[in-house]
Amino acid sequence: MKAIILSGGKGTRLRPLTYTGAKQLVPVANKPILWYGIESIVAAGITEIGIIISPETGEEVKTKTGDGDRFGAKITYIRQDEPLGLAHAVKVAQPFLGDSDFVMYLGDNLVQSQLDLFLDKFNSQHLDALTLLCEVENPSSFGVARVDENGKVLELIEKPKNPPSNLALVGVYLFSPEIHHAIASIKPSPRGELEITDAIQHLIDKQKSVASFKLSGWWLDTGKKDDLLAANQIILDDSVESAIEGEVDDQSKLSGRVYIGSGSIVHNSMIRGPVMIGKNCKIENCFIGPYSSIADNTTLIDIDIEHSVVLQGAILEGISDRIVDSLIGERASLKTAPQRPKALRFMIGDDSKIELT
Ligand code: G1P
Repeated sequence: MKAIILSGGKGTRLRPLTYTGAKQLVPVANKPILWYGIESIVAAGITEIGIIISPETGEEVKTKTGDGDRFGAKITYIRQDEPLGLAHAVKVAQPFLGDSDFVMYLGDNLVQSQLDLFLDKFNSQHLDALTLLCEVENPSSFGVARVDENGKVLELIEKPKNPPSNLALVGVYLFSPEIHHAIASIKPSPRGELEITDAIQHLIDKQKSVASFKLSGWWLDTGKKDDLLAANQIILDDSVESAIEGEVDDQSKLSGRVYIGSGSIVHNSMIRGPVMIGKNCKIENCFIGPYSSIADNTTLIDIDIEHSVVLQGAILEGISDRIVDSLIGERASLKTAPQRPKALRFMIGDDSKIELT
């Protein structure tokens, strides 16, 4: 069994962050989203992993993620020159996959359940495809499945206007090599992509064995700001363990689970966990509330912040209102200007979103 993780795409819904970086590298609890996928694949015993990259962000994904040593895996990078769909990505990966069964994992998805449960079902029933399904409120935004009472998939439709159920296709799939024949038989969809949903439908039409697995845990597609903040909240809830590797002075008060990375200095601040603070940060006269992830090398002075993600090297200083539900990009600077006349002064990147009261 091998695995491929899709880490291309343009990430339009996370602009402006994705003008300069891959959406799969945006951190949740200070770890790139992509790495959660790699870790769960390795935890299921699969160590041969192909990562599909795009010409725009591929180098960054490669440099950050490496050859797989840190995960106990062997990572091969496979370039998809154009974003022509998920099934097209499988086509590009075919030389890597050979005639192996494989897991396909969308690199911007986070799934709580353990992969080995799905692998057991796939292997014991000798399936050609196993899809994971999750009940959602907005099925029209996803691939949607119609299943019988035994979980047998009867029909799959990509982003249907009139969804036949509320069961969305989660971005994790298991396939036998039969999928390559199916992909060779399908045509691009109206959005111009070779859809994996259509390829699986082709397997169903050819009476191949396609089953589904209904997720009971959470699943997050992190492509948008609010989904990413929700993912950050869930992961912090699940995983932060208190540790202070930096310095916290006597005037500061920490409560709940708070992690502070090495080289970080916390002065006269209140931090209420779960909170994760990276390395070499400077935190002064701040309140940092629950569900905040503060990445390495950030500076926070005279700031109240909660339920937010701050990326590397950002500087936040002297904002009198509490910052909530926010995603602050790398090296962004948010300060009150000392000079008069009192005014707001901005240099805001394309597609930025700012809400002032
Ligand atoms: C893709 C799939 C869709 C699936 C979704 C899960 O959609 O085409 O079937 O439900 O991922 O994240 P996309 O993100 O390409 O719009």
